[in-house]
Amino acid sequence: MEMSEQEGIRIAIRARSKAYSPYSKFPVGAALLTEENEWFEACNVENVSFGLTMCAERVAVGLAVSKGHMNFKLLIIVSDSLQPVVPCGACRQVLAEFAPNLRILSTNLRSQTVEFNLGNLLPLPRQGILG
Ligand code: THU
Repeated sequence: MEMSEQEGIRIAIRARSKAYSPYSKFPVGAALLTEENEWFEACNVENVSFGLTMCAERVAVGLAVSKGHMNFKLLIIVSDSLQPVVPCGACRQVLAEFAPNLRILSTNLRSQTVEFNLGNLLPLPRQGILG
């Protein structure tokens, strides 16, 4: 594993420790790397109205865009699950807005890692009418 990936995992683990997940008790951390090599870290933020929960991945996108970054090359996700998690459909769509072929590494605390390309998780992300 590359150094930047190991760094991203450490950052995502730190972000995970900040998760607000009293309902699911399933904290998730994400670290999003920009083309300029800046990391944005985020956790999931749950809500008593369950459907309003924000996944760590989407919070990371919001943080990065708010700081003027829209070009992303790597997303790291960390959870404590039997299998590394796969981003939900909503997050796939939000990520694809900026990086339709984003490289995604998802790892669990047992150091099992899976790699995805967002283009495979979400083909044809844009409505034809909008180009
Ligand atoms: N969750 C994420 O933050 N990212 C994922 O990729 C999987 C799911 C969160 C949403 C919710 O707070 C909790 O994990 C359980 O689904």
